[in-house]
Amino acid sequence: RIRSVVRGCGSYLPAEILTNEDLAKSVDTSDDWIVQRTGIRQRHVAAAGEMTSDLAIAAAKEALADAKVDPNEIDLIVVATSTPDNTFPATAASVQAGLGITTGFAFDLQAVCSGFVYAVAVADKFLIAGQHKRALVIGAETFSRLLDWTDRTTCVLFGDGAGAIVLEGVEQPGEASDRGVLTTHLRSDGRHKSKLFVDGGPSSTGTVGHVRMEGREVFRHAVGMITDVIEDAFAATGESAQSIDWFIPHQANRRIIDASASKLGIAPEKVVVTVDRHGNTSAASIPLAIAEARKDGRVKEGDLVLLEAMGGGFTWGSALLRW
Ligand code: ACO
Repeated sequence: RIRSVVRGCGSYLPAEILTNEDLAKSVDTSDDWIVQRTGIRQRHVAAAGEMTSDLAIAAAKEALADAKVDPNEIDLIVVATSTPDNTFPATAASVQAGLGITTGFAFDLQAVCSGFVYAVAVADKFLIAGQHKRALVIGAETFSRLLDWTDRTTCVLFGDGAGAIVLEGVEQPGEASDRGVLTTHLRSDGRHKSKLFVDGGPSSTGTVGHVRMEGREVFRHAVGMITDVIEDAFAATGESAQSIDWFIPHQANRRIIDASASKLGIAPEKVVVTVDRHGNTSAASIPLAIAEARKDGRVKEGDLVLLEAMGGGFTWGSALLRW
C-alpha cells in the first residue's frame, strides 16, 4: 500500500509589510480594534508586478531544495489559489514552466481558504493510486489585489504569500511505518455563497471584483464546521486531541483558532499561529505555517500533524498526517 509522505516544505512572503498603523492612515480603524478582533498585527503585500505564480515558484523552489528533489522528478503540481495570475491558463501551468518542468501535469484548485487542505486531499489520491510519484502541493495568494482598500471590514484581514510541500508516494509494506497522509475530510455547502464572496468574475460582471463578507455570519459557522471535520478525522483514525503533536489551522482569525482548539480540547502550546504576522493569506496560510514550524524545529519527523481550514463557499476540511 502507498502512502503520501511529506518530503519537504517551503514558503515565500513578499518583502513589503503593512502594519495596522499603516492601515489606520487610510481607513477608520486602529491597531487596538484589529488586534482585539482578529489577532492580526501586520501582513505582507506583493509588489506591483509580483504575481501569484512568482510567490508560488519561490515557495516551491524552497520546498524542492528542502526535499532534495529535482524539479523534473515532480509529475503533479496542484496550486490552490483564488487569485490566479490570469483567468486562464492555470497559475499551476506557469509554475510548472517557471520550474522548468515538462513532465506530468499541473492544475489550479479553487476552494478559497480551504484550498490547501483540498489540494493535499486531491494530490494524495493521485499518489496513493500509484498513478503519480511526486507532487508539489502549493497554496499561493495575492489577496491584496481582491481587496476594496476603502472597506475597513475586509481590507484589514488579508495578506499575500505562498507555501508549498513536496508529497511523495512511498510503498509502506506492512504496518511498521505509518508516516504520511492518514486521512482527509472535505466538505462544502454552496448555500452560504453570499456570506463570503468576490463581487466579480468573468461570467458575472466581467470585472475582477472585491472580497465581500458578512464577518459575523462567517464567524458563527466557522467553529462548528471546523470541529466537525476534525472529529471526522479523529473518528477515522482513532487519534485524538491528546495524541496529536501539532495543530496547524488555517489562519483566518486568532479568535476562531482559539475557539476551535478549545472546543476540541487541543492544548494551546500545540497550536501553530502565524496570523499575527501574516494576516489571512487564504490557501497559503497553512503551508506558510507548516514551513515556519518546520524551520524553527517544532514539527519533527514522526510528529502527528492536524490541518484544518474553512472558507468561502462555504468549503471546509481537515487532513491528518504523520510527518
Ligand atoms: N476597524 C474598526 N472598526 C471596525 C472595523 C475595523 N477594521 N471593521 C468593522 N468595524 C466596526 C463595524 O463597522 C461595527 O461598527 P458598528 O457597531 O458601529 O456598526 C463594529 O466594528 C463591529 O463590527 P462587527 O462586524 O460586528 O465586528 P465583529 O466583532 O464581528 O468582528 C470580524 C469583525 C473580525 C470580521 C469578525 O466578524 C470575524 O473575525 N469574522 C470571521 C471572518 C473571517 O475571519 N473571515 C476571513 C475569511 S473567512 C475564513 O478565512 C474562514
